[in-house]
Amino acid sequence: MNVKNNYLDKINFDNLPKHIAIIMDGNGRWAEKRFLPRTSGHKEGVKRVMDTVEECGNLGIKYLTLYAFSTENWSRPKKEIDYLMKLLVKFIKNKLEEIHKNNVKLNILGDLNRFDKNIIKEVEYAVELTKNNSKLILNIALNYGGRDEIVRATKRICNDIINNNISIEEINEEYFKRYLYTENQSDPDIVIRTSGEKRLSNFLNYQIAYSEFFFLDINWPDFHKNSLHKVIFDYQQRNRRFGNI
Ligand code: FPP
Repeated sequence: MNVKNNYLDKINFDNLPKHIAIIMDGNGRWAEKRFLPRTSGHKEGVKRVMDTVEECGNLGIKYLTLYAFSTENWSRPKKEIDYLMKLLVKFIKNKLEEIHKNNVKLNILGDLNRFDKNIIKEVEYAVELTKNNSKLILNIALNYGGRDEIVRATKRICNDIINNNISIEEINEEYFKRYLYTENQSDPDIVIRTSGEKRLSNFLNYQIAYSEFFFLDINWPDFHKNSLHKVIFDYQQRNRRFGNI
């Protein structure tokens, strides 16, 4: 990926994506390449999280969704899971004031119930504090799985039917979307995955029907602001047709 040019100057600010979603992959490989423990890749990754949140706010992006921990990540060694949790809590504790000051609203995608009580408490506090912010909605996917999200929505709709709140004929896509974690948000225009893997790994299965995909050959700790600018510039060169001609 050529990030030597300055892509910020090339961005057309009248045609910005509204929603950018990112699979932050390759922290471990970034560290291994440098003969460092995997944890230092995650630590460096958090710095890029902060840079990306800040830059999306500066650019005027409305929604940023970050895949931080999937339902499948529980199968990692306990030590690594504990470290990731520690980073998450540290991120919230250290950056909450800045996030709040910058008018960023924190929203969680996923089921928090599996986390330790202290993590739930920190996350819920941050969500509550920032709930009226409106400049940038920062979705963090935690214990998130796209299929799980669809099953959860289906169960809730079944409940609505049982309780006579809606008939089967009245259910449509708009109604279904209300039961997704991204309720009221526009779908991602852009999905980025770093590290060279070309998979979606159960990320926003319902929402990405018409997203533009960017599979980058750099690891997440190497995703600097200019990488984001280049993706936005490249996105603006694409022709989105949404099934039309
Ligand atoms: C993928 O790298 C990354 C993760 C599973 C975790 C992402 C988490 C962070 C960047 C830090 C915490 C997040 C926030 C929002 C503060 P990998 O470990 O799968 O790398 P590998 O595929 O090279 O092993």
